[in-house]
Amino acid sequence: MAGRCRPVKPTAAGRRRFRPAGDRPDPPCPAATWPPSGFSQAGVAMCDMYRMFVHPDGRPGEAGARLMARTGQPMARQAAALLAIDDPAARILEIGFGPGIGIATLAEAVPRGHVTGVDPSQVMHRHAERRNATAIRDGRVTLVEAHAEDLPFPVDSFDAAMMIDNLHFWPDPLAGLTELRRVLRRAARVVCAFTPPSGGPPRGIKDLFARAGYAEIATHRRGPGFLLSAVTGDAT
Ligand SMILES: C[S@@+](CC[C@H](N)C(=O)[O-])C[C@H]1O[C@@H](n2cnc3c(N)ncnc32)[C@H](O)[C@@H]1O
Repeated sequence: MAGRCRPVKPTAAGRRRFRPAGDRPDPPCPAATWPPSGFSQAGVAMCDMYRMFVHPDGRPGEAGARLMARTGQPMARQAAALLAIDDPAARILEIGFGPGIGIATLAEAVPRGHVTGVDPSQVMHRHAERRNATAIRDGRVTLVEAHAEDLPFPVDSFDAAMMIDNLHFWPDPLAGLTELRRVLRRAARVVCAFTPPSGGPPRGIKDLFARAGYAEIATHRRGPGFLLSAVTGDAT
């Protein structure tokens, strides 16, 4: 029964897998009618995951947006808290905002400031725009279709940045982090977080931040979640 699936217990590595539901009375996967029949179950699962979370589009992307919206709040709050924003007028950037839970959390933290989000997925833009419609209308949130590796902002545009469950999807994380540093002011704080279903942080993530020119790199565990904080340093 192509396209029907149900989540099973996360593996020791924290990865969530999907298996066919067969005739079991589980609720259908939201991406129930995608893809067309003829795919192997492994192919179906891999394509669904990719189109749900990495490059969200179509029905799987819609399902991924709903799932992330249901589950994203705790990590968004933890990551925003670790950013320790003490200026209500700060300018914050979120990369890979997905359905916009983090954007809404950040907008609460800077009632007189501005939150800018970048994400390449049109599906995620629709969800995040709906979720943050009032703040967008009030000019406190701007959402931009862009990739981490090519941020359409001048130098020193932001006071802090956050990204949750997406750095490991960037084609070139070192280039992305270097580009992020370009648009941040000096001594700006960055938080990069991963929930267990995302597969966790890529190996060598602290070294990656160091090579991209960040300082004061520290890792934090919050329950099952992983967060890294860093500050823009002096490296060029
Ligand atoms: C698993 S979702 C996480 C969404 C959100 N941060 C959350 O926690 O709910 C990954 C997001 O990263 C975005 N993404 C993928 N590649 C990207 C890139 N190169 N630059 C910026 N965002 C990217 C995807 O479009 C998707 O919205």
